[in-house]
Parts: sequence; structure tokens; C-alpha cells
Amino acid sequence: MSGLSVPTIRNLEAGKGNLSSLRTYLTSLGLKLHWLGAGESGDGQSLARRRQKLGVSQRAIAQRINVSHRTVIALENDFRGRIDTLDRCLSELRLRPTLKPIGEQPRDDINSVQTDDQLLSVWNASRNDPPQMALLHGDALDVMRSMPTAIVDCIMTSPPYWQQRTYAGGGIGEEQSVEAYLKDLRAVFKQAHRVLKPRGSLWINIDDTYHQRSMQGVPWRLILGMVEDCGWSIRNDVIWRKSGGALNRADNRFGHRHEHLFHLVKQDDYHFDADAVRQYPTLARLDGEVIATATGVTMEACLSRIADATDLNNDERCKATEAVKDAFVDIAKGLLHDFRLIIRGQNRVTHSDSQHTSARATRLVRDGFYLLKYDPRGSLSGDVWTLAPERSKGRDLHYAAYPEALCEKPILATCPIGGVVLDPFVGSGTTLAAAQRLGRHGIGIDLSEEYLKLATDRLNLPN
Ligand SMILES: C[S@@+](CC[C@H](N)C(=O)[O-])C[C@H]1O[C@@H](n2cnc3c(N)ncnc32)[C@H](O)[C@@H]1O
Repeated sequence: MSGLSVPTIRNLEAGKGNLSSLRTYLTSLGLKLHWLGAGESGDGQSLARRRQKLGVSQRAIAQRINVSHRTVIALENDFRGRIDTLDRCLSELRLRPTLKPIGEQPRDDINSVQTDDQLLSVWNASRNDPPQMALLHGDALDVMRSMPTAIVDCIMTSPPYWQQRTYAGGGIGEEQSVEAYLKDLRAVFKQAHRVLKPRGSLWINIDDTYHQRSMQGVPWRLILGMVEDCGWSIRNDVIWRKSGGALNRADNRFGHRHEHLFHLVKQDDYHFDADAVRQYPTLARLDGEVIATATGVTMEACLSRIADATDLNNDERCKATEAVKDAFVDIAKGLLHDFRLIIRGQNRVTHSDSQHTSARATRLVRDGFYLLKYDPRGSLSGDVWTLAPERSKGRDLHYAAYPEALCEKPILATCPIGGVVLDPFVGSGTTLAAAQRLGRHGIGIDLSEEYLKLATDRLNLPN
């Protein structure tokens, strides 16, 4: 049918041979090549346009992929050459080849996708405007490369995990080796560093993969690589403990029940609105006529501990008594709800006995006691968050969505109201749904048009 010999076809199917045979073969099957992230046509001119856009010369590409300058000229001008040369050139230009039926028109049925107007509406939106959303179709790396520097307040995302799923648009996660996967992700997060404002935050939800019966250490390998690339500071490794979930079918290891959510920043004075994410404090209480702290401790109980403190001298006892009485005055006024009374000889310092590392240890030696007062506005939660995973039921197309609740604290704390949240692997749009609900603008990128359609519907954007 194609006029090609059987050995040539076998060669092509093994990814070898030359481009003119490949084109003949694909045409006979009614298919044409196309590069994701570079328009509709998969030919030499689109390679040249892409190279120019990246500001790279023909000679530089030739050097990087280890071929002669003439080979690159032949590839760009006449789309002539070997398949493996094209392969290396595509990966250098960060393009992914796919196949499309010949004659298929560019898809414009998802109007909300990839319109620059939408992106402009996000850039131009003020803090007081209702949330503006832009969904962009393409490779996260390409799309972010085309974005201005220091433009978003917060990036919250869950990249594809290595070799765990095949998404509708292919893409990252399908690499043969974990090293190649980490390299691809690190390139994306270098761009994330560039587009993030100096006081911005990056949140990455990621899980590990078992390969040949061994965990690969993906989360920490990625994060340490990123620190090496851009000098990120790691603020938290939040453990998302998944409540419920599937049964552990392995009988030689324990069930895997958590994922990581890393919080990374570019500089020390990053935006963090602690008041927006405080836990409501447990209030002090009244037991009959007697006031007790939130944990049920009365003034009488504190004073009797002071009286029993054999390590304290009289002066220290008096001062401790005064401090406790003052604390209970504050409790009666509603200015304090709880405190701990630490007494020399009765308690150890909360974290360390060493006066080198602990100011509290110094106070205990010097004064004989101290009060550890809890912030009456409530404290911040710990770094283990128990949340139910998102059910794939009812979401026909996306199986790797995270729960909206996972995005709430990161967005509330690290994106100012009216700021811009970016998710470079937006999938079904969970991050942007949370951003929209919390009054932030949002930009989402995904390689898959199907997922973007899901996100479009979910965010109630015009179809
Ligand atoms: C783990 S899922 C994200 C799910 C999302 N958090 C949600 O709640 O729906 C990863 C997404 O990355 C997309 N993806 C894979 N490679 C990509 C690439 N190179 N550029 C942009 N998106 C990509 C996949 O299509 C998939 O939707």
C-alpha cells in the first residue's frame, strides 16, 4: 500500500530509518506528524520557528545533538534526515511528537482554551475583580517559557507521578527511567521559579513509585534537585495522610497511605497570612464558679504545684505565683485561653535542656519557672493533614485529581486575595476551583484537551 519494502517498514516501526520513508508510511495510514506545543504542523518549518522562538542558532542545535550544520539545514528546509536526528532535535526543542489524522482541522471547539485574551484578563485583573481564569493548552514547559517573569503569586500543582498512569495527552511521567522523569520535572520547576514573584510560594504534591519492588525516593530526589537548580528554601514537607482509600493487597509490606505536599519559597520574607489559616482555639472554660484553662487546669492547681516545688526559693515562688495570677486575669478577660506552667525540678524544657540552643532552658535556670502561653488567636496546624482522597467516581475522564481541601490552606496562606494562582498540570481544574472559590485569579495548563474541557465545565467558563 505504501510502496515501502517490508524490512523498511519493520525498521520504521522500530523507530529507525529516514524521514521521507516515515512520511510515506504515515500517509498510507492516513496520519501526519504534529508537535505538541508548536502549532498544528509537524514539519521542518515548524522546527525552525520553534528554534528561533527559543533564540537558538542552527549551529548551536547541531552541536547539542551532535550532527553537522548541514544535517540541521536539511531537516529544517526539506524535512530530510534520519528519524533519530529528528528525535534528538525535538527533545532539544522541548517538543513532543504525536500523530493526527490527515485533514483534521485544528481544534477550536474549546473556546476557553488557549486564548491570549483569557491570559490578558488574568494579567490585567485587579485585586478587587471577581476571579478571572485562564486555561491554556500545551506543554507546561513551553507555556511557562512564554510567560513573563515574576508574574504569579502562588503555584500549586500535582505533576504526573512516574509510570503510574497514562493520561489522555501523554506527557511527563511516561519516561523510561526515573532519572529522565526527574530531569523533565526539574526543567518545568525551573520555569516555575522564574514566573513566581519573589515573595511567592510553590506547593508540589507528589508521590513515590515502586519499581522492581523498590521505592524510588522520587519526592525527595526531585526536591533536592530543585534546590540545587534554583536555591529554593524548603518550608514544609506536609504529609497528606489519606483517610479511607483502598485495601493493602500486599502481604510483605505495609500499605502506602500518604503523599507529600512540599512548600518551597524563593526568599525569607515570603507572603504568609497565618491569620487566614489558624485553627480556632479551644476556649478557656468555667467549671461552676471556677475558671479553668482550655485544658481544664485551675489557678488552685497551679498554685499548689508552686507550693510543692522544692527546687524553688521563696523569691522564685512569689514571682511564679504572681505570673500565674496575672495569667488567670487575662483568661477571665478572654485575652488568653491556655498556657503551660513549667517549673524547675518538676518539668523538662519542652524541646531542649541545653542553654546553648534553648532560651527557655536559660529562663528555667535563671527564674525557676516560665509560662508557655498559647496564641489566643489559635495556632497553625501541624504538618500532617488527614484528608479523604478525591473519588474518581463521577469524574469519568480524570483519575488523578486531588481533593480541593488540599489546596485550601496553601492558597489562603500564600496567595493574597485577588492574587494569581498557577497550576502547570491543572488536569480537571481542582486548584483553580479552590482559587475561584477563595477569590483568587487562576491560570491552568495541561497537555490534554479533554481534561481542560472538564476544567472549563467545572469552573463554569464559557464553552
Ligand atoms: C496528577 S494530574 C493533575 C490532576 C489535577 N491536580 C486535578 O486535580 O485534576 C497531572 C496532569 O498533568 C498533565 N500533564 C502531563 N504532562 C504534561 C505536560 N508536559 N505539560 C502539561 N500537562 C501535562 C496530565 O494530562 C494530567 O492532567
